[in-house]
This record gives sequence, structure tokens and C-alpha cells, in this order.
Amino acid sequence: MLTEKRIVITGAGSGIGRATSILAAGYGANVVCVDINDSVSSTVEEIKNNDGAAIAVRADVSDETAVSAFIQQCVDEFGGIDGIYANAGVSGGRKSLTELTVEDWQRTLGVNTVGVFLAIKHSVPHFVNQGQGAIVCTASVAGLRANAGGVDYSASKAGVISIVQTVAYQLYGTGVRINAICPGLIETGMTKPTFDLARERGKEDKIGQINPAKRYGHPSEIGEAACFLLSDRASYVNGHALPVDGGLSASHPWVFPRV
Ligand SMILES: NC(=O)c1ccc[n+]([C@@H]2O[C@H](COP(=O)([O-])OP(=O)(O)OC[C@H]3O[C@@H](n4cnc5c(N)ncnc54)[C@H](O)[C@@H]3O)[C@@H](O)[C@H]2O)c1
Repeated sequence: MLTEKRIVITGAGSGIGRATSILAAGYGANVVCVDINDSVSSTVEEIKNNDGAAIAVRADVSDETAVSAFIQQCVDEFGGIDGIYANAGVSGGRKSLTELTVEDWQRTLGVNTVGVFLAIKHSVPHFVNQGQGAIVCTASVAGLRANAGGVDYSASKAGVISIVQTVAYQLYGTGVRINAICPGLIETGMTKPTFDLARERGKEDKIGQINPAKRYGHPSEIGEAACFLLSDRASYVNGHALPVDGGLSASHPWVFPRV
């Protein structure tokens, strides 16, 4: 599905980014795996052990110089860039509205929203020049409706959806596509505290029960959607925010059925 595609994936050291990097390499892509954490090396090691092509880059997605450099590294090492998955993100913690500080907001938006903006800003000139390219960004169901994160996190993800819609039109007629994915509850490094707590209390079977799939999701289930959107198979999918959430965001408030 991604044969010979040269793709940059951020947040590749854990969770969704790691799973997507491994899947994309398995589908034939050359992957530049970016993360602020050293764990990105183990993602690349796993790809190489399976005869895939990848390089590891340690970088902060909120640092403009670093973003420009890892995009250029993709061009230099793999001979070009065909797609980028701006996925790195932080949860913002569990602070309530009145506990949140301006610094908290700046940190959360700095990674989740500005990081996405920078990835788009620095990859778009390459894509426009060549008349093709695919951009995918990780938003969240928290960017669609309430109750999936704090105020700063939810606003940061609503911002990602808005960036995707606006940029899709700014790229009018260029041949470049941009889409967002809105994951529901996925077991990753970010949600580990939630899963740990539920398991500690013997309540793992309660996680993810409020969506009609009646379960939580796995990183590779987001990765499959990301690989599709990065591929030419999604050639007419543009400006979209795709929930991959077991159906969670399809509903009005509802009463849990008694069986
Ligand atoms: N797990 C979920 O339930 C869920 C739901 C909706 C959206 N998301 C989003 O999915 C994306 C991936 O998160 P995940 O769930 O895989 O969590 P994760 O914590 O397992 O992975 C996130 C990765 O991003 C990296 N990262 C954080 N800040 C960075 C920075 N400044 N520069 C570079 N890398 C950085 C981390 O080191 C980590 O490896 C995030 O944008 C998150 O908001 C997750």
C-alpha cells in the first residue's frame, strides 16, 4: 500500500506512532521515525529486524529548527518526501479548569497544535513543488466533543481539526491532501495511568464500554487508518477528520442498556 513512499512519522517512540511506523514500513514505506524520547531507536530496530527501511531521529516537534531539519533529513536520506504523519502529542495531565496555568496551555498547545502546524509548514513546500503529498494529523475525539480530556488538551485537538480543514483549502488545486484522525480510547503510553488504575481495581472489563464496539482500541487500529490516509488509495479523501473510536462519537447522550 505504501511501496517506495518516503514518510515522516512523529511520536514514533511509543503507542500510535510506533505502531504506525511498523505498519507503514511493512507496507513498503521508508520511514523517518521522530520522537523526543530515545525509545524511537527501538521502533527503528524492530523495523530493521523485519527487513524494513527506517531511520531514527530524536527531536522536539515544537522546535521549528528541528522540524525543518528532520523533514530535510527525509529528503536527503531517502531522496524525497511523500507523506507526513504529525502524530506526537501530550495529554496535558488531569488538571481541572481552575488549576490550569498559562504555562500548561503553552506546553499542551506547543506540542499538540504548534507541532502539527510546523510539520505541515515545513513539508508543504516539498509536496506543492512535486504536485503530490499526503499529510495526516492525529487529533482526538476530544477535539470533537467534551469529556475526553482537559480543557487545554481538547482545545489543542479542536485546533488540529481546524488546521486540517483550513489547510485543505489553502492547498486548493495543488494535489496535496490533508486529513486528521480522531482516535477514541487507545491503550498507549499516554493512557497507561487509566489502564493501570482500572486493572489495579479489577475493572479492566469496564474500559471502553460506552462505545458500541464495547471495547478500547489498539494502536495498530489507528495505524491502519493512518497508512490508508497516507496512501494513494485515499486519493479522494481530503480535509476530513476521521473518528476511529469504535463508534463513540456517533451518539447523543444515552442510557446504558440493562440486559
Ligand atoms: N491513546 C489515546 O487514547 C489517544 C486518543 C486520542 C488521541 N490520541 C493522540 O494520539 C497521539 C499519539 O499518542 P499515544 O496515545 O500514542 O501516546 P504515547 O504517549 O504512547 O505516544 C506519544 C509519543 O509522542 C512523543 N512526544 C511527546 N512530545 C513530543 C515532542 N515535543 N516532540 C516529539 N515527540 C514527542 C512521546 O515521547 C511519545 O513517544 C497523540 O497526539 C495523542 O494526543 C491518543
